[in-house]
Amino acid sequence: MKTIEHDLLIVGGGAAGLRAAIEAKNHIDDVAVVSKVRALRSHSVSAQGGIAAPLGNLAENEEDDWKKHFEDTIEGGGHLVDRDACEVLTKNARQNVIELEHLGVPFSRREDGHLDQRAFGGHSLPRALYAADRTGHAILYALYGENVRRDTTFYEEYFVMDLVTEGRTVDGFVGYDVSTGDLVRFEGEAVILATGGCGQAYETTSSGRASTGDGLGVAIRAGVPVKDLEFIQFHPTGLKEKGILVSEAARGEGGYLLNGKGERFMADYEPDSMELAPRDVVVRAMQREINAGRGIDGEDYLHLDLTHFSDEKIKKKIPTIKELALDFAKVDPTQRPIPVQPTAHYCMGGIPTDISGRVQAKKEGVLWDNLYAAGEIACVSVHGANRLGANSLLETITFGKRAGSFAARRAKKGATEVVNSDGVQWWESKLKALLEGNGSLKVHQLRQQLRATMTEHAGVFRDEEGLERALDKIRGLRERYFEDLYLEDDGRKFNTELRAALELENTLEYSEFIVQAAIAREESRGAHFRTDFPDRDDENWLLHSLLRRTSSGEAEVSYTKVRDRDGVSN
Ligand code: FUM
Repeated sequence: MKTIEHDLLIVGGGAAGLRAAIEAKNHIDDVAVVSKVRALRSHSVSAQGGIAAPLGNLAENEEDDWKKHFEDTIEGGGHLVDRDACEVLTKNARQNVIELEHLGVPFSRREDGHLDQRAFGGHSLPRALYAADRTGHAILYALYGENVRRDTTFYEEYFVMDLVTEGRTVDGFVGYDVSTGDLVRFEGEAVILATGGCGQAYETTSSGRASTGDGLGVAIRAGVPVKDLEFIQFHPTGLKEKGILVSEAARGEGGYLLNGKGERFMADYEPDSMELAPRDVVVRAMQREINAGRGIDGEDYLHLDLTHFSDEKIKKKIPTIKELALDFAKVDPTQRPIPVQPTAHYCMGGIPTDISGRVQAKKEGVLWDNLYAAGEIACVSVHGANRLGANSLLETITFGKRAGSFAARRAKKGATEVVNSDGVQWWESKLKALLEGNGSLKVHQLRQQLRATMTEHAGVFRDEEGLERALDKIRGLRERYFEDLYLEDDGRKFNTELRAALELENTLEYSEFIVQAAIAREESRGAHFRTDFPDRDDENWLLHSLLRRTSSGEAEVSYTKVRDRDGVSN
């Protein structure tokens, strides 16, 4: 097996990974980004509406400061937000977005030159900076350009199969070079996982096809715990059937949600904040309208009405939304309302880290020596049970930067070399078994069954009976994955079916944990709504969940308290 060595290995070429690489380059030269897709195709490119920062530079937000942003984030997150992380996020937001501007992000400005900001749900003041409705695109390209300028090494279209570990030390990973089909041993003094979210576990999602949560699968197999996975955010406005994001910017700029009777139904649920209530609240209201038969023509979708917007406003503020509505729904939003429905959007949970991005090992307070995580795959716990819009781009750059800095300094010290006793053979056999499997089930069939199960039972509303059914089903699908899978393409070069099979193994791995965590949490908080336990229960459940696969293959469930501003769980 070919070996590639770098001081720091960053897995993932989205906003968190690229921001980490830039920071790492301030400390060490030898930094590599390894990504399963071309970095510029990472899902951060699809982030639309904005990035939050309490600038307080406009008449309508001059009262704003980091403390208000901090309070809004905690309130929106159902109080399950770690205070130390939230303080880092909000206190540094201003500096971090200004740095982005200096890297070349063309944030939209007002006529008088001030950086503009728009309203987003759950934020008490308008504080989302934006670049029209292509904010993620603008940020990703600026970060990529800076990495090119700084000579970061890129390995694109390499899929990470497994970490190579010993005790709490990681010595890189085994990757699969999609273009040649070869296995590659990547060795590094420190590793950052920044592989992005897991929306593809659901049928309808705003996430790109590559958002298969691979970092979660990799972490679970390495015995790393995963935190708060039961909290999956559904975005209120996915394009009907497609799930494609119709940015919250549309509501932030004054768009309405209408039911089949033409009513602005949010008045019945949240008369003060209306369409700009936190996403979990809006989504449940929408689902209730649909369930009560008040969808459009009694169907399972509603309308987002922008017909009162001028052409000029749409062109300046939300041009992508118009393009998407025209291309994928054949609707011109200046003439007709856009058909929308809730769509899986974001995973609040993930690989637990401290505020330096260092990954937690088995127990609270015990950390991996040289493994870091950042971005959506990580759970530094700034979003708690429900993320506020525009806080995720902020998280990627805040904690990407920190992970890059701390991991680079750790890499400088060097790490103990791990003797990988399994050698190459184990992963070679794994690929061979997949390629030569002669079962009856194709990857896309199994994936479809998994996604339908997650959608039916682990969606906006859940209950014990449905979740238990989902757990049985997923366990059955996992067995079939190993016993009954069949790949039509048995070649090694650019075998996208093989890559999809590896992605599916990861999706099965963490979907089981999402469901188990949801069964265990007998309350409703943020995005986790149990119809059989509809109330929030702070007395018993103001706790983070941690699930870990033990060496015997069992899932171990434990809980930790919320961290205070000093980083203490009390
Ligand atoms: O609606 C949006 O533009 C999404 C933003 C976000 O999730 O932060």
